[in-house]
Amino acid sequence: MNQVRLGIVGVGNMGGAHAKQLLANKINRCVLGAVCDIDPARFTDYPALPQFTTAKKLFKSGKVDAILIATPHYAHPTIGLAAFKAGIHVLSEKPLGVHKADCERFIAGHAGTNLVFSEMFNQRTDPYYIKIREMVRGGELGTIRRINWIITNWFRSEAYYASGGWRATWGGEGGGVLLNQCPHNLDLFQWIFGLPRRVRATCRLGRYHNIEVEDDVTAYMEYATGATAVFITSTGEAPGTNRLEIAGENGKLVYENGVITFTRNAMPTTEFSRTTATLFNAPATTTTPIPLGDNHGGQHNAIVQNFVDAILDGTPLIAPAAEGLNSVELGNAMLYSSLKNKTVELPLDGAAYHRTLKQLVKNSRFTKKEIKPGTASAAEFTKGFNT
Ligand SMILES: NC(=O)c1ccc[n+]([C@@H]2O[C@H](COP(=O)([O-])OP(=O)(O)OC[C@H]3O[C@@H](n4cnc5c(N)ncnc54)[C@H](O)[C@@H]3O)[C@@H](O)[C@H]2O)c1
Repeated sequence: MNQVRLGIVGVGNMGGAHAKQLLANKINRCVLGAVCDIDPARFTDYPALPQFTTAKKLFKSGKVDAILIATPHYAHPTIGLAAFKAGIHVLSEKPLGVHKADCERFIAGHAGTNLVFSEMFNQRTDPYYIKIREMVRGGELGTIRRINWIITNWFRSEAYYASGGWRATWGGEGGGVLLNQCPHNLDLFQWIFGLPRRVRATCRLGRYHNIEVEDDVTAYMEYATGATAVFITSTGEAPGTNRLEIAGENGKLVYENGVITFTRNAMPTTEFSRTTATLFNAPATTTTPIPLGDNHGGQHNAIVQNFVDAILDGTPLIAPAAEGLNSVELGNAMLYSSLKNKTVELPLDGAAYHRTLKQLVKNSRFTKKEIKPGTASAAEFTKGFNT
């Protein structure tokens, strides 16, 4: 095989944006082989392509070697597992699934196949996060003491939430900002720092919007190393902030307003504290901005290209899907901690969380106004993802 025929399952906002990139030949050695959506109204942009209204029919057609799943999240594992059975490679949109147990089922279904299984963690291609990860993992900051990430620049309007009946409902989406916007940040968090040992969180449901799920989160985490972390997110604040501050033995790294700044201590903090005769002075420092320019990486197209290269050449994946379990587990733990009003130990009890989620779905009395695709909001969304 010298070319991958990729099928997109779910050609809504995100799937449509991916399709546009493929049709513009932005991915080498890859063609859009077919589109699949339960809503045939979504096919109007693809008159020349084979169209399928179920993933099962797509898999049987023999028209694709691989799929990109861009349906609402609950369907990612179901469609992906069926693809593995049909011998088809899978690139899943984030999140891998809605809850930990479902992700584990998805990952187990892939085990033992020789199929490529990747996840759309496009922010892993951003040189800024790659650099921060290198500095943390490479030991430049020394032992990490404290992490603060305020990521509130995910503003979403009421019109956004109305743009899909599934959005921001327990039954349709399985959560709010932790399931939709923050999988990227939760993945970067675990990719850079690993998973914490315990989580205590407050998730406010419908604080800013007419929705039944969380749109405002404050989580406190503890690591086995003794490091502590605070993660704050919201879709209701404006202007929003993206500030990641990491305090280590050797100094402090701040990523804010698109700039990484590293302030290095002349001596590691603990050693200085033990040896200095001064009472109040902290160690001397040097501050260095790390210039990375206006380059935020290849994003979505880079992940699709990497998936294709992995299929054709065995290139290592940037975002192996099995790693997608961690961000789901972390988000689930935050929700579970808040819903149960208690500290949650990791690994999370996936079955217990699933039971809680099922209760939320069962007890939901929420009805939601929906704006159909083709409206200004749908067009605006697609424009925003033309990377
Ligand atoms: N990586 C990113 O930056 C990014 C950005 C936005 C959305 N996403 C992800 O993409 C996914 C879709 O989000 P969206 O905003 O495009 O939603 P959307 O509602 O605009 O589109 C979903 C599409 O899937 C179709 N669909 C639903 N169930 C299906 C099924 N069983 N089989 C085939 N088609 C089905 C719907 O008819 C719809 O056309 C979500 O999981 C979301 O998290 C990722």
